[in-house]
Amino acid sequence: MNTEFDLKSITKEMDENRQGEAFSLGDEQLKKYEGNNKKFFIESYGCQMNFSDSEVVASILCESGFQPTTTFQEADLILVNTCAIRDNAEQRVRNRLKEFNIIKERNPSAMVGVLGCMAERLKTKFLEEEKIVDIVVGPDAYRTLPGLVEEAEGGQKAINVLLSREETYAEINPVRLNSNGITAFISITRGCDNMCSFCVVPFTRGRERSRDPESILAEAKELFERGYKEVTLLGQNVDSYLWYGGGAKKDFKNQPEEVKESAVHFHHLLEMVAKISPDLRVRFSTSNPRDMTDDVVKMIAQYENICKYIHLPVQSGSSRILEKMNRGHNREWYLERIQRMREIVPDIGLSTDIITGFCTETDEDQADTMTLMEQVGYDFAYMFYYSERPGTPAAKAFEDDVTLEVKKKRLSEIIALQNRLSYESNQRDVGKTFRVLIEGTSKKSDNDLFGRNSQNKVLVFPRGNHEPGEYVNVFVERATSATLLGSVVN
Ligand code: 5AD
Ligand code: SF4
Repeated sequence: MNTEFDLKSITKEMDENRQGEAFSLGDEQLKKYEGNNKKFFIESYGCQMNFSDSEVVASILCESGFQPTTTFQEADLILVNTCAIRDNAEQRVRNRLKEFNIIKERNPSAMVGVLGCMAERLKTKFLEEEKIVDIVVGPDAYRTLPGLVEEAEGGQKAINVLLSREETYAEINPVRLNSNGITAFISITRGCDNMCSFCVVPFTRGRERSRDPESILAEAKELFERGYKEVTLLGQNVDSYLWYGGGAKKDFKNQPEEVKESAVHFHHLLEMVAKISPDLRVRFSTSNPRDMTDDVVKMIAQYENICKYIHLPVQSGSSRILEKMNRGHNREWYLERIQRMREIVPDIGLSTDIITGFCTETDEDQADTMTLMEQVGYDFAYMFYYSERPGTPAAKAFEDDVTLEVKKKRLSEIIALQNRLSYESNQRDVGKTFRVLIEGTSKKSDNDLFGRNSQNKVLVFPRGNHEPGEYVNVFVERATSATLLGSVVN
């Protein structure tokens, strides 16, 4: 394997993942809004949750006289749904907002709005100091967007960054942007109570709250009826999903026994969604090692259509660093979880998130991360170097003392290692046959289709007479570090 070449291709892929994305208009629901006379354009950055939120925003706007457009030049309202997780994501958004301001020269009545985590973090800064937006809306205030647009049109400063303890947008039916008509995201919780010391999310997305399971089920059923074949249940920490009639999580322990017994935990929710149909695949993201229970893993073993894949961020392999990160788990706990998962579901697919260069990290800590990666043998990993976020516990308590040069060196070491691990993991699949849900045409050739197996690996194979949306069995003939290549068998 040519490591240098592959290293470049993986880093490029990661960069692209962090780019903003516009969308396509595949959703048939949009037909009803074709008569709406104002147009909005939306671009999303960051995690899947943000992309899912943009679909909620689209629905709110469509219900209030807008329709989407994929060309920002013709939009009356341009929205950027932003991510605050690392500094480079923020810089990219800043540049983009400046670009969007140019269209105002042609269309002075056009509005530019900033949504999401950066809006929450920076509040009035974009409006008052940088003057590059007209509207600022935080993640819990999207219902007020139509009113804010009106205020901005009237020349006022339009901002709402209030966080909520209740808002889950439960009954809003998202307009599927960028829909392939086959796979979709469904939010099940919002916010995060974990307080990992490096992370800005508890500050930008507020307290954790769970969405009513009935509304989740209704959304999943509706998608399946419209031909979708896979849903991904989304939350910052899906394992802590808890519904007992809308009360706060912290009050749960004081509830009477009958309330506790009828409560819906994450594994119950998984089962409810899995029962909609064996032809509807269920995925979920993200799991947290400190809350991930055996119940969830056992549910994966029990239902063929709950995908055998867990994204379980470890962040570091050093227990000392994990303690400083306030992760609530150490190396041993994490490895025990992985072992247990493999006992219950031997062929489980595993991926992770890793940060290099966190405060005080030494070469020994880095070596611990690398041995943990080897020990687990991840199929895939998202890897980053530490970016200090103002206001977070780590920014307040620790010095960001690892130089950028060292952070980058360590990052490239773990990328190279993961590249080998992915390659090895994929080689182990050569000669196996997987059930694959076809998602579309391969980027490299119109003659090939691509899809995913239960373990979330991408398979590419000749089209034959198959179509996206079908399930097929694919025999794996060869593999690269990124893809399994094969052909359809009966
Ligand atoms: N610097 C670098 N990476 C971060 N992440 C979260 N906060 C930071 C930060 N301050 C990474 C974590 C998380 C993923 C979504 O982003 O690995 O799991
Ligand atoms: Fe970025 Fe985190 Fe906000 Fe997602 S929740 S958009 S990853 S800051």
